[in-house]
Amino acid sequence: MASKRFEFLLGLCLLLVINMASAQLSSTFYATSCPKALSTIKSAVDSAVSNEARMGASLLRLHFHDCFVNGCDGSILLDDTANMTGEKTAGPNNNSVRGFGVIDTIKSQVESLCPGVVSCADIVAVAARDSVVALGGPSWNVLLGRRDSATASLSAANSNIPAPTLSLSGLISAFSNKGFTAKEMVALSGSHTIGQARCTTFRTRIYNETNINSAFATSLRGKCPSTGGDNNLSPLDTTSPTSFDNAYFKNLQSQKGLLHSDQQLFSGGSTDSQVNAYSSNSGSFTTDFANAMVKMGNLSPLTGTSGQIRKNCRKAN
Ligand code: HEM
Ligand SMILES: *[C@@H]1O[C@H](CO)[C@@H](O)[C@H](O)[C@H]1NC(C)=O
Ligand SMILES: *[C@@H]1O[C@H](CO)[C@@H](O)[C@H](O)[C@H]1NC(C)=O
Ligand SMILES: *[C@@H]1O[C@H](CO)[C@@H](O)[C@H](O)[C@H]1NC(C)=O
Repeated sequence: MASKRFEFLLGLCLLLVINMASAQLSSTFYATSCPKALSTIKSAVDSAVSNEARMGASLLRLHFHDCFVNGCDGSILLDDTANMTGEKTAGPNNNSVRGFGVIDTIKSQVESLCPGVVSCADIVAVAARDSVVALGGPSWNVLLGRRDSATASLSAANSNIPAPTLSLSGLISAFSNKGFTAKEMVALSGSHTIGQARCTTFRTRIYNETNINSAFATSLRGKCPSTGGDNNLSPLDTTSPTSFDNAYFKNLQSQKGLLHSDQQLFSGGSTDSQVNAYSSNSGSFTTDFANAMVKMGNLSPLTGTSGQIRKNCRKAN
């Protein structure tokens, strides 16, 4: 009897701990403190994406690179200072990650509506969702209430963001380190249905790999010389680069993945069957993608009294 009661209390404590660790973000976080925050972000994203479709891809990637480096805390937005070299010049980000100007515009709009209320990390999370929607992809409820970090970490950016040179097992472990299954890794990689990559990230693949469609490789070599042209761009999804669909997975089936890491998902390994599933059923892709995005947005947020609401997303207060 006493032991039953003890078990019950233990269970209660466990539940409390779980709640404290994960239940602090909420989709209604700004409902009274800044009711126009979400519509303001959406309008700004819609106009940025209609001005340049690729911006939707860039904003989605910004959220990914924020969350995988010490959690979704807006750290990627911090400029370098005399005392701190931030994440912007890390290998995966330098001359690559973009969208900072759009985030600045949104931040100044929400600051004038509700000063000191909406975090930069939340703006990035909402902008990522609105970008996917603007390009025809699924929607999801963004949980809110993240606070911003006062620092950023160059070394954490270099070690936590997966490289396009990774093998399938390297990709699986990079995502497993952040709590994702291989299936979730495949779903999240479906982000590469939009956006562009620089020649330097896929040169070795188009000149030296064998699991690539030869006509596809030949046409890419025209835009990406074996030396020089490092910043020349090609679409990650050669079929429909500005539409958030499941064409990425169909491309992989015909060996038209742009990055080495893309084609690793369909190269005779354990994730081939998942690529086939997403290729034949776009609804299962968009559902799994949306769920995985919510999960990614929950990576180690700063809540309560930790962190700050930056006034300027580029600088700690
Ligand atoms: C699976 C491991 C991943 C690797 C190795 C990887 C690698 C890359 C690389 C090398 C680029 C091109 C960058 C450049 O040339 O400047 C890129 C672009 C992109 N990535 Fe990933 N990525 C991965 C996963 C993800 C995830 C999980 C997301 C989002 C949730 C994402 C979203 C994007 C988007 C949207 C672009 C295009 C950005 C633009 O056009 O500005 N990627 N990725
Ligand atoms: C750098 O650190 C010093 C000493 O801690 C501080 O006085 C100064 O304000 C800092 N500068 C910046 C740009 O953060
Ligand atoms: C980042 O890119 C700039 C401009 O291309 C380059 O000068 C700089 O050396 C790069 N920084 C790092 C840390 O690689
Ligand atoms: C292709 O492989 C050869 C032999 O390993 C190497 O010398 C060359 O630099 C590689 N080319 C590219 C573009 O990676």
